[in-house]
Amino acid sequence: MPSPTLEDVTRAEALERVAAFLERRGVEDARRDAKALLLAAGELRQADLLLEPATPLSPGASRRLSAYAQRRAAREPVSRIVGLRGFWTQDLVVAPDVLDPRPDTETLVELTLEHLRDRRRDDLSILDLGAGSGALVCALLSEFCNARAVAIDLSARACAASAANFARCGVAERAAVVQGRWARAIRARFDLVVSNPPYIASGEIETLAPEVRLHDPPLALDGGADGLDCYREIVVDLPRLLAPQGLAVFEVGAGQSRDVAALLAARGLEIAEIRRDVVGHERAVAASLGE
Ligand SMILES: C[S@@+](CC[C@H](N)C(=O)[O-])C[C@H]1O[C@@H](n2cnc3c(N)ncnc32)[C@H](O)[C@@H]1O
Repeated sequence: MPSPTLEDVTRAEALERVAAFLERRGVEDARRDAKALLLAAGELRQADLLLEPATPLSPGASRRLSAYAQRRAAREPVSRIVGLRGFWTQDLVVAPDVLDPRPDTETLVELTLEHLRDRRRDDLSILDLGAGSGALVCALLSEFCNARAVAIDLSARACAASAANFARCGVAERAAVVQGRWARAIRARFDLVVSNPPYIASGEIETLAPEVRLHDPPLALDGGADGLDCYREIVVDLPRLLAPQGLAVFEVGAGQSRDVAALLAARGLEIAEIRRDVVGHERAVAASLGE
């Protein structure tokens, strides 16, 4: 299907044409995506579109928008096309071969903030296992203003993406990135250990939406035969990683919360909370060493 015709159109006309094009190509939320692509292609703010919808789109913006629309129709996520994703209160760079951070993961930040609300100004130490874009560390360090964090990832690209986002979010002086396998090389104890490990069962990856299957790296998705392999590996080290009053917070896939809680309990940890995300799935499991 040819791209929408975007020569000599106004901003409002461009929005309508791209939204209709994406809808015909079966993109869910076509209008929302069309708007995000238009704003990025035209280097516009939402207010520009609202206040001056009849302004003509420049030829450069039209060309960019046309290319963006083709990429979205081919199921590339908007965040990868525009290179940015809003997470918590910040915009993060979304690098190729690094997981596009998801709103579900903000559940871990909410849960942590509530459990550690009395320690917001403490010099907490934080460990993030499987840093990806660095989303969790950027969000947590923005909320815990005296905390420091170590972020670990096996992927060199994820380590580079994390470091770039730490600089972008102004937390680079309080965050370090280490390339490695989970906490294998770490000897310190932490007040907070967070992790959103890969948790999709290997056999389910083929069934995921093309936006995920074709664009998120397998290393960030594949959790082994039942999706729980990474939790099994990580929980072994948790008792030696947590400080006495420490908290561990894990993201889990739909239907995995009880299994992950059982893995934690088997290592002597007490389950502090299982929290649902905005669509009602049990998404975050928190545990501590207990008394
Ligand atoms: C689901 S992604 C989470 C990324 C990020 N924390 C977020 O929430 O957006 C999981 C991350 O774990 C990393 N990873 C996978 N296996 C690993 C391992 N054995 N050791 C360390 N990191 C690993 C992947 O490279 C990926 O960046």
